[in-house]
Amino acid sequence: MRTIIEPFRIKTVEPIRWTTCEERARLLRAAHYNLFLLPAEDVLIDLLTDSGTGAMSTRQWAAIMEGDESYAGSKSFERFRQSVQEIFGYRHVIPTHQGRAAERILFSVMCKKGDVVPNNTHFDTTRANIEFVGAEAVDLPAQEGREPSTSHPFKGNMDVMALERLIERVGRERVPLVMLTITNNSGGGQPASLENIRAAHDVCSKHAIPFYFDACRFAENAYFIKLREKGYESKTPKQIAQEIFSLGDGCTMSAKKDGLANIGGFLCTNDDSLAQQEKNLLILTEGYPTYGGLAGRDLEAIAVGIEEVLYEDYLRYRIVSTAYLGNHIADQGVPIVQPPGGHAVYLDARAFLPHIPLEQFPGVALACELYLEGGIRSVEIGTLMFGGAARMDLVRLAIPRRVYTQSHIDYVIEVILEVWKRREGIRGLKLTYEAPFLRHFTAWLEPA
Ligand SMILES: Cc1ncc(COP(=O)(O)O)c(C=O)c1O
Repeated sequence: MRTIIEPFRIKTVEPIRWTTCEERARLLRAAHYNLFLLPAEDVLIDLLTDSGTGAMSTRQWAAIMEGDESYAGSKSFERFRQSVQEIFGYRHVIPTHQGRAAERILFSVMCKKGDVVPNNTHFDTTRANIEFVGAEAVDLPAQEGREPSTSHPFKGNMDVMALERLIERVGRERVPLVMLTITNNSGGGQPASLENIRAAHDVCSKHAIPFYFDACRFAENAYFIKLREKGYESKTPKQIAQEIFSLGDGCTMSAKKDGLANIGGFLCTNDDSLAQQEKNLLILTEGYPTYGGLAGRDLEAIAVGIEEVLYEDYLRYRIVSTAYLGNHIADQGVPIVQPPGGHAVYLDARAFLPHIPLEQFPGVALACELYLEGGIRSVEIGTLMFGGAARMDLVRLAIPRRVYTQSHIDYVIEVILEVWKRREGIRGLKLTYEAPFLRHFTAWLEPA
């Protein structure tokens, strides 16, 4: 059959609330034009993030009932460790409450002031955690990843030549590790190819630099490799994921994405001495190494989630339904990052609103209009999030996993096309408050 359907039935429903356009205009003012500051119940379709917003399966809920809440050495930790090791293959698995906790511990242990950490593109929490220890986070996306409108199968690739040049320029001793984000969230949810991952691994090996993955969306990346990279057509997503991780020395992971869980994360490494230091830090701020700030039931949900996320029928539906949204708006001329990503569609706000200067945050202005028009919440990934380092101003429509149906997505398409029609009348915004780091979460704005 040509129609690809949601590969599940719905057993529990959660009502969503309608608001009027006047209410939304008032709510937007009260939230200082920052959609993070809106009460979630005033949002109709919430595409703010795909992080922790997925629906769990019957198997996950059943596993939750098996949660062993023992402080030390719980059975749930053993199941979690086995499940993670089966796919990721690393010697040490350290649970954390979410991805950024894994990042903070990793960079605190591995980096110091003056160091440089390259990545295809750092996510905001990764960049902030590196900068917090006084090191520099450097983005090295491949050239094709810098151009939103051109289509390429692996726009999440790293510029491996630029990596070589960077190591030569700053010296190997200032590069404590290299990271690769799969898929590349800030660069448009685009995958990296295994060819590119292997090339980055080879450069790291040559210079004896540890190579780590930011693995949040590893299953989506693996499925893109299956669809798009020669030689992987007949491999399972799990085999591809295993091959990816075999090329690294460890990873950070937010289980709120491809862990199909509502909370959790982990840090993996093959290095015994690093693992010891990491566990010591973990005890200080997260918890004992067999729970790391999570409940036993959370570990159970993740153990099942990372297995289910690699099911091929799930990944087919996931990738196709995201592309459905992207292709329908692109067909009507709406500028998006091409091709649509795995977990999200990214509107190119600079091309959508060319009359709004960057210092008036075109991405934030566009996100506010989508809320005003139809109660849709999205997020800016651009000048508000990254300041002057932003290469693009994007509005990310992130699709929660197993939550919305095709008719929800049809509604989203209609709202975007309405905003597209009246784009010339949309105004920019100016900042009235900003925090010293990660300012986009709490910033206040008003019409410029
Ligand atoms: C690529 C990437 N890395 C790291 C993180 C941080 O994970 P968490 O939100 O669980 O701290 C995210 C979250 O969105 C992400 O997308």
